[in-house]
Amino acid sequence: MRIALLGFGNVGRALARLLASQRPAFPFQIAGIHTARHGTALDPDGLPAEPAFGPAAASAGEFLDRAGAEVLVEITPLDPVSGEPAVSHIRAAFARRMHVVTANKGPIAHAYASLREEAERAGVLFRFESTCMDGAPVYNLIRSTLPGVRILGFTGVLNSTTKVVIEAMREGRSMQEGIGEARRLGITEADAAYDIDGWDSAAKTAALANVLLDARVTPQQVRTQGIGRLTPERVMDLAAKRKTVRLVSRARRGADGTRLRVRAEVLDETDILASVQGTSNLLLLHTDLMGTIGTVSISPGVAQTAYGVFADLVEIWRR
Ligand SMILES: NC(=O)c1ccc[n+]([C@@H]2O[C@H](COP(=O)([O-])OP(=O)(O)OC[C@H]3O[C@@H](n4cnc5c(N)ncnc54)[C@H](OP(=O)(O)O)[C@@H]3O)[C@@H](O)[C@H]2O)c1
Repeated sequence: MRIALLGFGNVGRALARLLASQRPAFPFQIAGIHTARHGTALDPDGLPAEPAFGPAAASAGEFLDRAGAEVLVEITPLDPVSGEPAVSHIRAAFARRMHVVTANKGPIAHAYASLREEAERAGVLFRFESTCMDGAPVYNLIRSTLPGVRILGFTGVLNSTTKVVIEAMREGRSMQEGIGEARRLGITEADAAYDIDGWDSAAKTAALANVLLDARVTPQQVRTQGIGRLTPERVMDLAAKRKTVRLVSRARRGADGTRLRVRAEVLDETDILASVQGTSNLLLLHTDLMGTIGTVSISPGVAQTAYGVFADLVEIWRR
């Protein structure tokens, strides 16, 4: 199966290494890679994990035409406000009857319903396992193992930076020092306000709600309040009472639509939502037939994100 990559940063490089390590059991070839500044690489027989780049294709569409692949993997950076240019990249692939896998939550948070319909019309598959839980199974888990189940809502602790910042504050360090530590761990956006103000969690909440609850919302429609007003004094005071704070995403189907919110919540230290630290994340699914079940990912990194993309590729290949 020939694959075209749009984007070759942390996830793309980890994916290229993973694909090389899993061959020949999974005969996937990277037929082309297109980037913003490094140019374009093409080889119908398969590029190496560290390819040489030539001049850039004039556009994503021209790149897709020249790559001649069956699947696009869209792994360009997230634009949380519009989901672009990833949404247009995915549409360009559907127009060429290519399957699409993405780890970019922007398109799912902004345009999931219309993209799903376009994929159906084109007769191709659209998969996005790595968008919200860094590759830990959520969408594939529901699709493959929970027949007949209706998802009624979810509760998640999905942002890593805020957990690192809160843990720093528990030790008496400032918010800026906590952000500095998250930067050193490589988990913070260039603009840390995106994490602190809850925008990252709102995008994940909108994406999950669009897929699991047919919500048809954008991140702007999630009621969001981040941890910006939290102080070390408040966090230490709570710690003395065996409590802590987490930025929690909550969603519920209701008679009048889906209720969505992201908020810093005070939790008992023993609460399962308080148990996840650092880059670990947790998602509880509230269902009709299976009660509440969950997915936890302990300290996932870019290798796990790449694995989620790989799992999606394997599903497409098997079909
Ligand atoms: N990193 C993670 O652990 C993780 C986890 C979950 C989801 N994700 C998502 O996965 C996606 C990729 O993340 P990453 O960490 O690999 O990002 P990254 O390291 O910043 O790499 C982004 C890549 O996209 C390329 N690019 C930027 N704009 C482009 C455009 N318009 N057309 C074609 N290529 C373009 C860049 O090109 P240049 O190299 O030339 O600049 C770079 O190769 C993001 O949407 C992110 O939110 C990442």
